[in-house]
Amino acid sequence: MKAFAERVAVITGAAGGLGRALAFRLARERMRLVLADVDAEALERAAAELAAAGARAIAVRTDVSRGADVEALARRALDEHGAVHLVCNNAGVAPLGAVWESSEADWRWVLGVNLWGVIHGVRVFAPILLAQGGEGHIVNTASVAGLISPPGMGAYNASKHAVVALTETLHHDLAAIGARVRCSVVCPAFFPSGIADSERTRPAALAEAGRAKSPAQLALEADLRKAVSAGRVSADAIAQAVFEAVRDERFYVLTHARIKPAIERRMRDILDGRTPADPMRGPDATSQGDPA
Ligand SMILES: NC(=O)c1ccc[n+]([C@@H]2O[C@H](COP(=O)([O-])OP(=O)(O)OC[C@H]3O[C@@H](n4cnc5c(N)ncnc54)[C@H](O)[C@@H]3O)[C@@H](O)[C@H]2O)c1
Repeated sequence: MKAFAERVAVITGAAGGLGRALAFRLARERMRLVLADVDAEALERAAAELAAAGARAIAVRTDVSRGADVEALARRALDEHGAVHLVCNNAGVAPLGAVWESSEADWRWVLGVNLWGVIHGVRVFAPILLAQGGEGHIVNTASVAGLISPPGMGAYNASKHAVVALTETLHHDLAAIGARVRCSVVCPAFFPSGIADSERTRPAALAEAGRAKSPAQLALEADLRKAVSAGRVSADAIAQAVFEAVRDERFYVLTHARIKPAIERRMRDILDGRTPADPMRGPDATSQGDPA
């Protein structure tokens, strides 16, 4: 996408972390913003901060795991602005635990937000962007956990690998029809945000009253909190990389160079028929537990 000023961007998970950083970065391009998040209070706060900084932003409370909510979000964006040019499917949550420890509710929650959120975002917005006939771009936030499979986060990894696959296929499908709509997939490693506290937005229907977390799960959560807060690449820097990828029409957005050897090792393990190495314990920077 070459033109940004006055064009319309929809961002999910916009109340905090990377979504909020994307909103501020795109506001600098004078885009009109439609901010979506399930956390209505934090979303209103973010919208007010953006407005105070001179941005034009509306807030639409949206649970991205619900198709009807994402359809209502699109209707609101079109009612307000008449078009949508850039869609950032970014909302995400990260429950942890060994694969067998993740409950059905954990799986439904993480796949609902991380995968169905992206499915709904593409299903609802791609036809709108295509019907406009002009430039458009869809950015899906995956993770480096969509390219490697760190232990203790199987449900999250499965959701993010699926987002990478979905977005690669979206790219091919758009190219096959000669569309002017492009797409990108964002694969960061740890960066400081609210992701380690994502339980705060778990819906009551998928909460498990009385189910205590195992000591191993609590240890994983403590490790995640440490790794996220120690991340050396900021949400603002990732938002800048996303903006440049949209502007330059680049597909893969890998923001953490030091994680690349772990990605390469996984690809080599597959091609050479080896048992997978633990990506957090390799002979590179990831052995420090800090893939930033
Ligand atoms: N922080 C990291 O280390 C890291 C690394 C790789 C990828 N990511 C990905 O980045 C994206 C943004 O996460 P973040 O790190 O900024 O975390 P964050 O918790 O700061 O932001 C995520 C936002 O998503 C919102 N959200 C949660 N469930 C929702 C739902 N059902 N509908 C709508 N919004 C919902 C939350 O309220 C929150 O505002 C996520 O997809 C995450 O998986 C994060």
